[in-house]
Amino acid sequence: MKENFGERIGIAAASIPKEFRAAKGPRTAIVLGSGLSGIAKGMGLKELPYASIAGYPKPTVAGHAGVMYLSEKTIVCAGRFHYYEGFPMDDVVFPVFLLRELGVTNLVLTNAAGAVNEKYSPGDLVLIKDHLNLLGTNPFIGPNPSKADGTALGERFFDMSAVWDRDLRRLARESSPKKMRSGVYAAMTGPSYETPAEIGMLRTLGADLVGMSTVPEAIAASYLGMRLLGISCVTNMAAGISKRPLNHVEVTEAGKRAESELRDLLLGILKRL
Ligand code: HPA
Repeated sequence: MKENFGERIGIAAASIPKEFRAAKGPRTAIVLGSGLSGIAKGMGLKELPYASIAGYPKPTVAGHAGVMYLSEKTIVCAGRFHYYEGFPMDDVVFPVFLLRELGVTNLVLTNAAGAVNEKYSPGDLVLIKDHLNLLGTNPFIGPNPSKADGTALGERFFDMSAVWDRDLRRLARESSPKKMRSGVYAAMTGPSYETPAEIGMLRTLGADLVGMSTVPEAIAASYLGMRLLGISCVTNMAAGISKRPLNHVEVTEAGKRAESELRDLLLGILKRL
């Protein structure tokens, strides 16, 4: 991370109007993945465009709205920052640090993912039980982030043995009308989809799901001691499983179809927290 990362977060938090900063106890935040940003609408939350927050990265991808939706208990981020877009890792994890500053202790990361596990089907919502960081980098490379007074925001070497919270997974299962599977999510940089050989490699490595997001944010959430839940929306079978080539439009459309089910699940989870 850059030397001034901690200060940058402090400045961003201070630029948010007080009414949005007031939290009644611990808050839960949800980060919405590709094609899933419609979910926040109709949840009765106040809108705060990313552009109004000092130093917030600017989204580049269509379908990533760039709005934070807030209430005293809940924050939903519609629009995330991917490594493949060319954002430095500081920008990719910036929202997670800001959310922690805003009182968030439970974080729900959602994404669109390809199924490596042949038992999954497009449209499935799968809980993330662990991940593989195959991005070839780590957001914490560089100085350990600290506040303006020099105190570190977290430990230099931090535990990653229980990143994805078992209790939150149980709560998600209890909130779902269907049986939910849980799997290992492998993060690849993209933006190219994988080759069939790469999917074979990921399966050998123990992956059930593949995507281009989520893992940097999960590492940041771990560093900050947040309780983490991950939900992958399976938009396609990964390369080589079906004979058909992968197509971004089909992937986002499959995400859209799963939106209402994911919204119901998220609302159920929020109610139980
Ligand atoms: N691979 C990588 N990322 C993805 C995929 C995939 O098959 N589907 C949705 N995001």
